[in-house]
Amino acid sequence: MAILVTGAAGFIGSNFVLDWIAHHDELVISLDKLTYAGNLANLASVASNPQHLFVQADIADTDIISELLSKHDVRAVLNFAAESHVDRSITGPEEFIQTNIVGTFKLLETVRTYWSALDEKPKAEFRFLHVSTDEVYGSLSKTDPAFSETNRYEPNSPYSASKAASDHLVRAYHHTYGLPVLTTNCSNNYGPYHFPEKLIPLCILNALSGKNLPIYGDGQQIRDWLYVTDHCSAIRRVLEAGTLGETYNVGGWNEKANLDVVNTLCSILDELKPRADGQPYKTQIVFVKDRAGHDRRYAIDATKLERELGWKPAETFETGIRKTVEWYLANQAWVSNVTSGAYRDWVSQQYQA
Ligand code: NAD
Ligand code: DAU
Repeated sequence: MAILVTGAAGFIGSNFVLDWIAHHDELVISLDKLTYAGNLANLASVASNPQHLFVQADIADTDIISELLSKHDVRAVLNFAAESHVDRSITGPEEFIQTNIVGTFKLLETVRTYWSALDEKPKAEFRFLHVSTDEVYGSLSKTDPAFSETNRYEPNSPYSASKAASDHLVRAYHHTYGLPVLTTNCSNNYGPYHFPEKLIPLCILNALSGKNLPIYGDGQQIRDWLYVTDHCSAIRRVLEAGTLGETYNVGGWNEKANLDVVNTLCSILDELKPRADGQPYKTQIVFVKDRAGHDRRYAIDATKLERELGWKPAETFETGIRKTVEWYLANQAWVSNVTSGAYRDWVSQQYQA
């Protein structure tokens, strides 16, 4: 028996694979297309582990995935693979449609064919877990209650619209074909191996290299932050005990305005790695043009997951953000590897104005 993890060389996928191997002893097949966001260095610690197999492939590649499913008696597929950066979806939405919608559809079809032919017991025990986002619910005002699983879908960016479409396909495959699916909708993650196009790793690395810390608009947009290993433990729990066809919101009860997040990062860096000139890192903050269609506030109500499955996050924002800064300071080899090549091209294009 084995599990198949797609998008396994990305930020959350790689954290999940490392976390899974620390908790289980069955085979993990890590599948990833290795786009600009996929980084095999994230999986370096399990590269020669016999419990781990890496395969470079697209989730839309039916032949490779069918073969892997049958050959390894896969009992669960966890779909992390996606184009995940909102800003990139604004400048180039097509890849988002291809991977997040068409790719998820192809993966569902491949999995359905495999699952339909299974014997009764493995068929009943099989799971397809789809990893999704809180962004499908749209944007909240300051006083709105947090998103619950019954909120209507109101995606606002090409990224969130493509994730919403994939969630609907997953739901339809359960309703129509009986495919045993589970969906998780999580808030903003942060932690080790986070690709530095996203706010937190971008600001840590820019601060350390003396660059600007770009804040979109007024910096008062609110996100609900969850340390990545808490997301991993939530997914493990939903996979183990979630009710088929249900969706589960995952969040850290940590709503923060972007400017506060960046100021916190600056204070931790002032303490752990003070600037040579004695100035605080917050002097590097600059306000830049806002993101088009920028969602003002996300907040997750994770009550269902706690009540039904007993899951709670282990980290507070304060403990998680400190661990994150410490990780980036301690992993300079990973940082320099990532800050070469395609990532550089993207950053210069995004912030040239
Ligand atoms: P990421 O961009 O770091 O990683 C995505 C991975 O998917 C990369 O390794 C990439 O190479 C791979 N990939 C892309 N297209 C592929 C394809 N066609 N076939 C196979 N692999 C492909 O993203 P992430 O932040 O790790 O997010 C993982 C998942 O979690 C996504 O589905 C995302 O929507 C969801 N999510 C992310 C967050 C967050 O805060 N980062 C929060 C909630 C949900
Ligand atoms: O809410 C979950 C989502 O969180 C995931 O589904 C996405 O895959 C993930 O990328 C993340 O989306 P965000 O757009 O919220 O994350 P990002 O790190 O890009 O931005 C966080 C906030 O910071 C957002 O309000 C935009 C702002 N921002 C971002 C960047 C990159 C800045 O102010 N400056 C920046 O340079």
